[in-house]
Amino acid sequence: MSRIVGIDLGTSTSEIACIVDGAPKVIPNTQGKLITPSVVHIREDGDVLVGEEAAEYLFTRPECTFIEVKRLTGSGEVLCAHGKEYDPEDIQAILLRYLVGCAETYLKEKIDRAVITVPAYFTDVQRRATARAGELAGLSVERIINEPTAAALDYGLVNRKECKNVLIYDLGGGTLDVTVLELFEGVLDVKASRGNNHLGGKDFDEIIMRNLTDTAGDERATMRLKKAAEDCKIALSVQEVYNVSLPFLSTDRNGKPVSLEKNITRAKFEEWIGETVASTKEPMMTALADSGLSAADLSIVLLVGGSTRIPCVKKLVEESLSATAHSLIDPDLTVVRGAAIQAGILDGVFTSADLVITDVCPYTLGIEVLHESFFEDKLLFDPIIPRNTTIPVDKSKLYFPVETYQTAVDIKAYQGDSSNLEDNEYLGEVKLTGIPPSFRGKKEPIEVTFSYDVNGILQVKACVVSTGRQVSAEISTTGVKPKPQLDLTKWEKAEGAKRFRPAIRKAEKMIADELDEGGDLEILVKQIKEALLLNKVEYTDKLRNKLLELMDILK
Ligand SMILES: Nc1ncnc2c1ncn2[C@@H]1O[C@H](COP(=O)(O)OP(=O)(O)OP(=O)(O)O)[C@@H](O)[C@H]1O
Ligand SMILES: [Mg+2]
Repeated sequence: MSRIVGIDLGTSTSEIACIVDGAPKVIPNTQGKLITPSVVHIREDGDVLVGEEAAEYLFTRPECTFIEVKRLTGSGEVLCAHGKEYDPEDIQAILLRYLVGCAETYLKEKIDRAVITVPAYFTDVQRRATARAGELAGLSVERIINEPTAAALDYGLVNRKECKNVLIYDLGGGTLDVTVLELFEGVLDVKASRGNNHLGGKDFDEIIMRNLTDTAGDERATMRLKKAAEDCKIALSVQEVYNVSLPFLSTDRNGKPVSLEKNITRAKFEEWIGETVASTKEPMMTALADSGLSAADLSIVLLVGGSTRIPCVKKLVEESLSATAHSLIDPDLTVVRGAAIQAGILDGVFTSADLVITDVCPYTLGIEVLHESFFEDKLLFDPIIPRNTTIPVDKSKLYFPVETYQTAVDIKAYQGDSSNLEDNEYLGEVKLTGIPPSFRGKKEPIEVTFSYDVNGILQVKACVVSTGRQVSAEISTTGVKPKPQLDLTKWEKAEGAKRFRPAIRKAEKMIADELDEGGDLEILVKQIKEALLLNKVEYTDKLRNKLLELMDILK
């Protein structure tokens, strides 16, 4: 087995690191740089370029050059280059493959295991998509960790002897994360996380662009304008005025070239982005309140991410918390260093005597329930795991079917903080059948169990708690891997299928003979076929035992 590397797959920039001599070491790319722009260019022959080399094509071939793809993670959006379609995860995989290649060259060894960081506020769908990108790149994704938690690990390794309450404010290219944690003699205990998956430096670039001119429809001009806007923004972090100069940016209606030349002051820039910057205060204060601490309890406030170099961003953090904010740790490399430390923990380089970390689930997770009243029936969100619960966690709750003679229920999982169902995000569902019809109005209790693992990925289980008979079903979105499309008719070709053939045949006959009253047999047979095709050995055995048990009951 190869060693595990840590990867920070950022909106604007990406990095890779590993542990060398007990400390994180960021690995240079093919250009000798520690930071790789998250840019991918696809050539006509299918070859790819990554990083600075790819960025050169932003102006000449913007239609087959991809930037900021992280913001599309898990969106299902289709990207096109030379008539070929790509998922955002395909492009992320190219970036990952490149970084791993750099590490392989540098370390002179094969690498196929990684820890990948994601914004703490990434959803279940986005985490699964990130894991899929890793797999597409040929990596076994050993752990998905939250970016601010990684930053905390980097800080915690060096300062492990201290006892501190730390607030980390991470504003990168596309995402905001705020995390509050307690550091106590090498134990890093995350108390709360909050954020916004669509807020970062790229929004500041876009605000500048909008205020300069409109280049809609002209992709090349837009790319040049975006670059100039970012240069302007970065310059204004250290100087008071910046001159944007874009000769021959576009052409007017008569085909005459139009140039752009403008002086932008820091004051003007701050006015433009003021509202967006101010909007980061709410998540910061909520994270603090959720952690049970007050601003006065904080020992240190740490700034992470390139966008925290903007003076008015730093000022907002300091004013909101009445504290000095520090960029003690390298704001660009601290997340990847933390990812490498997590990799080192998994690899056994560090032990629990060095460092222990606990994380939280940043969202409230629950299910859809029907609230019946005299006036109207309403669908509501019923929480099972409250936000900022320490993970991993298993929580169960009992529910009852709505109708007396109801034999099946759909258990729909959502995440969010609103009691209003529509305001929360739908995650997936599991159908539970075979509920015995209730006698004399006494309804069967159904136990719903939510398991949230260390990768931040959810599993939902439901079962009927009844005296004579118990049936359970697991949600289809198991494990880190999202489910591939399977051809169930091919199950007999799967490895080890022979052993299951008699049971499946018998069950299928019972289904044909209409002995499968609740429909559970059919579901189990389907699950076994899926498990066989996915080569989930232990799981298949477990299902087979359930099938035999059920056939005995139905006989
Ligand atoms: N000196 C600076 N002043 C202002 N903004 C800066 C400065 N340096 C970098 N940035 C901005 O920081 C962003 C990149 O930061 P970083 O590399 O931390 O983000 P990322 O990790 O790629 O994104 P994310 O964590 O959101 O996925 C870019 O928008 C960049 O323009
Ligand atoms: Mg980042």
